[in-house]
Amino acid sequence: MGVDQIVVTGQAQAIILGIETSCDETAAALVTRDESGRGAIRSNVVRSQLDEHAAFGGVVPELAARSHVEWLDHIIAQATDEAGMDLADVDAVAATAGPGLIGGVLVGLTTAKALAASLGKPLIAVNHLEGHALTARLTDGVEFPYLMLLVSGGHSQFVLVRGVGQYERWGGTIDDALGEAFDKVAKLLSLGHPGGPAVERVARDGDPRRFRFPRPLLREARLDFSFSGLKTAVRLQAEALAPLSDQDVADIAAGFQAAVTEIVATRSRQALERFGQVLPGVQPQLVVAGGVAANRAIAAALDRVAQDMGAPLVVPPIALCTDNGAMVAWAGAERLALGDMSSLSVAARPRWPLDDPDMGVNQHGV
Ligand code: KG4
Ligand code: ZN
Repeated sequence: MGVDQIVVTGQAQAIILGIETSCDETAAALVTRDESGRGAIRSNVVRSQLDEHAAFGGVVPELAARSHVEWLDHIIAQATDEAGMDLADVDAVAATAGPGLIGGVLVGLTTAKALAASLGKPLIAVNHLEGHALTARLTDGVEFPYLMLLVSGGHSQFVLVRGVGQYERWGGTIDDALGEAFDKVAKLLSLGHPGGPAVERVARDGDPRRFRFPRPLLREARLDFSFSGLKTAVRLQAEALAPLSDQDVADIAAGFQAAVTEIVATRSRQALERFGQVLPGVQPQLVVAGGVAANRAIAAALDRVAQDMGAPLVVPPIALCTDNGAMVAWAGAERLALGDMSSLSVAARPRWPLDDPDMGVNQHGV
């Protein structure tokens, strides 16, 4: 939860309320965007449901939706309070309309529709992935075009971001998302949920060379990921060694982390090479989003790749890499600036690829 101070320039600025409920965070934020395109976070309130799902080893959609219903009004009230603003000050209401767990998305989108209707302000239905994709423009003022690597619990993909609404998906995962792979490995090593931070923690005491786990697809040129074979190899190794000592757990975690780090680094290098081919003469930039960006081994490897390739690496503060309301508000602000608003009849979408031609809005950018 953080509030950035902004310098009030006297320029007209739009105030956007952003609502995020697509997974296990109930989040609301107020973000401003001035006419020059500079954004500022006035409030960013995130309530994680982690404890509610912990006993189940993963997010339970029905519980998540109920918890969003219970908390969203309070979180929105807290966001307006912390910003020192009133709902009546808001110029538009943005909410994640997908992709995500449909029950939760419906809670946020329906609330946003009710607010927009009662305030007489436009509604902006935001693609959650667009929220991740545009965050670096809010935090770092990154200019188009850039390459985004999104690595979260639900997604692993490269996207060429040419402009608002102009996205080319260059690769994704054919099975598990990277964060999901961390979570599953953590579960089979009895490390708890969420698994990523736990795997990273125990991996520090492990020997990454003791086990050489497979790097699926890595010899292929495509920019896709596959983690399920790796996860199976980890499971088989753990079963073969059972009962596991602390050192075994640490060594397996370190071996797994070394494998995924190599996979992500190699793919990122290939994706930056492709950037150079697709956009010759254009400075490549690599932007990372999603909770896995918190992993220091992966971040360090990406840093080396970016330096080798002469590409600036932008990793927004981790609180803005994971799910939050500010990214939704900001995507809404960018849309609003282009006059892209949604009808109150817009539907929630459990699946909504970023490069879907039906983003429901126009395409803008380079
Ligand atoms: O972006 P995020 O908060 O939620 C979505 O999935 O949208 O990402 C959460 C994911 C979880 O799978 C979690 O295990 C992973 O990010 N994660 C990490 C680390 N911190 C969070 N994975 C590896 N290393 C970490 N330090
Ligand atoms: Zn997300």
